[in-house]
Amino acid sequence: MCGIVGCVTSERNAPYLLVDGLRRLEYRGYDSAGLAVIKDGEIVTLREVGKLNNLESALKASGLGGTIGLGHTRWATHGRPTQVNAHPHRDGSGKIVVVHNGIIENFRELRAELRDQGHVFASETDSEVIAHLIESCYRGDLAQAVLEATRRLEGAYAIGVMHADHPEMLVGARKDGPLVIGLGENENFLASDVTAALEHTSRFVYLDDGQVAELTRDGLRILDASGHEQPYVQTNIAWSLAQAERGGYPHFMLKEIHEQPTVISDTLLGRLDETRGEIVLDDLGIDDEAARAISRIHIIACGTSWHAGHVAKFYIEQLARIPVEVDYASEYRYRDPILDPDGLVVAISQSGETADTIAAMRMARQAGVRVVGVCNVIGSTISREADGSIMTHAGPEIGVASTKAFISQLVALLLLALRLGRARGHLSVDELRRHCLELRQLPQVVENVLKTEGRVLEVARRFAGAQDFLFIGRGMNYPIALEGALKLKEISYIHAEGYPSGEMKHGPIALIDERMPVVAICTRSPVYEKVITSVEEARVRDAKMIVIGNEGDEKITEIADETIFVPHVAEILSPIVNVVPLQLLAYFVARERGCDVDQPRNLAKSVTVE
Ligand code: M6R
Repeated sequence: MCGIVGCVTSERNAPYLLVDGLRRLEYRGYDSAGLAVIKDGEIVTLREVGKLNNLESALKASGLGGTIGLGHTRWATHGRPTQVNAHPHRDGSGKIVVVHNGIIENFRELRAELRDQGHVFASETDSEVIAHLIESCYRGDLAQAVLEATRRLEGAYAIGVMHADHPEMLVGARKDGPLVIGLGENENFLASDVTAALEHTSRFVYLDDGQVAELTRDGLRILDASGHEQPYVQTNIAWSLAQAERGGYPHFMLKEIHEQPTVISDTLLGRLDETRGEIVLDDLGIDDEAARAISRIHIIACGTSWHAGHVAKFYIEQLARIPVEVDYASEYRYRDPILDPDGLVVAISQSGETADTIAAMRMARQAGVRVVGVCNVIGSTISREADGSIMTHAGPEIGVASTKAFISQLVALLLLALRLGRARGHLSVDELRRHCLELRQLPQVVENVLKTEGRVLEVARRFAGAQDFLFIGRGMNYPIALEGALKLKEISYIHAEGYPSGEMKHGPIALIDERMPVVAICTRSPVYEKVITSVEEARVRDAKMIVIGNEGDEKITEIADETIFVPHVAEILSPIVNVVPLQLLAYFVARERGCDVDQPRNLAKSVTVE
């Protein structure tokens, strides 16, 4: 999730406006930053790895000024976080610069085509291809060249473009990536979100997919995909800066829950190839032959990532028929596990910096076992040291309680299971295509699940005073019960237990009385009737039943005190759907109790000590 800022102004302070704007986007996370301005008819760029302060120091040392510029904070997806990979990227002539947020799915094909035409590339990024493509389309009209170039792009993008021969013009374009125009007094802005320009203006124009914007200091033209000028609507944003960083949401956690449809799309981007019947996981480092040779899989992780690992056990065992064990990384590293050189270790970690997971991963590698890291932070220790990786593309997660990263892990692990299942011959091309189709519909399904928010809030208000909660689920939704309980205890400080529902009568049933709310995940699956039985057992002991069921399921209404209905999906997608109301429940209960949702007591976002 990169950040983009552009400005065209009458003062010579453009680079400082850019750095200020980038600072406002810091909450999006980044690993490098850069800017470009036009000076004496030439493009000058500054790019630094690490904190924004590094870029600011370089700017001060350079004494650079200018009235027009583009800035960028990079959250690496393709190519390591290095100076060369940092934006802005130039074309071959050095006259065009581009900043980009998103992922260009067909960048390899485009790069090969452009190389054949003589273009030379400096970075490992997908973004650099955009600058070269614009160069090849440029015939004097920058907006027209951007329009033509973007027609060739597949994937998601928000871009800002500048040309040395147009020293008073910025061009922006977007598809499935955010980009807004800020309209100031004698100055205009281009940004990933309003926070970057809110200090200078409250008047914004939101660009639509496929549109191209041409900005000067005192003018704005918006072109549609066919190049026709279009009228635009100004929106007045009356947010404070702090509100704006959270996209208008009261907490990062709620914002991140709402980002989940986009996160699913981003994690799937470029990875489903229905035509060839393949799952494309470029950095996995396991070809079909190696996939067939895997004797067993060991998943190591902590906390929420460990829950994702448990869902993955169901995915991999069902789809690829490889035996899977799931371990807490903190246990694995000390329990002298049997390390099989034909086995595979999958280390799951949002941050890629969790000390126990790193130590467990190193132990496995030292014993000659191949490790695949499933990480959200490119350049993190696990993503660097693992033999292969699957990046989850959830963007930076600020709330300490993991939500969108968890969903992206589930999607990434399902892709891994499908990839292994196909390689080992357990899935036909047609079966794989059917899974791809269902996955492509998933972002919209999760969007619909988010509409249960009002209902979940009512339930949360009723039970916010409870002292204990029990969460039950079965099959691949039993780890989701564990995750529901973990979310609630992390941020509301209510004691909560998660159990496979079949285990309830082996102990936790003793806790049940009329003061105990029990959350049951009871969506359609081969074990549906079994969960219903557990719900009945809890109900006759006066538990207050909160049941997550499928829309149209009358039986649920009869046996529950409170119902939350979600759309029916294929069983393998049900954990991804069912966790959403549980995240919302934890969030609203915590909010009702006045807890510090984003920074709960005693917890750290990344546990880098043992
Ligand atoms: O960064 P990691 O995924 O390795 O972190 C693992 C856990 O520390 C993390 O999931 C923790 O349980 C979260 N607070 C869950 O919300």
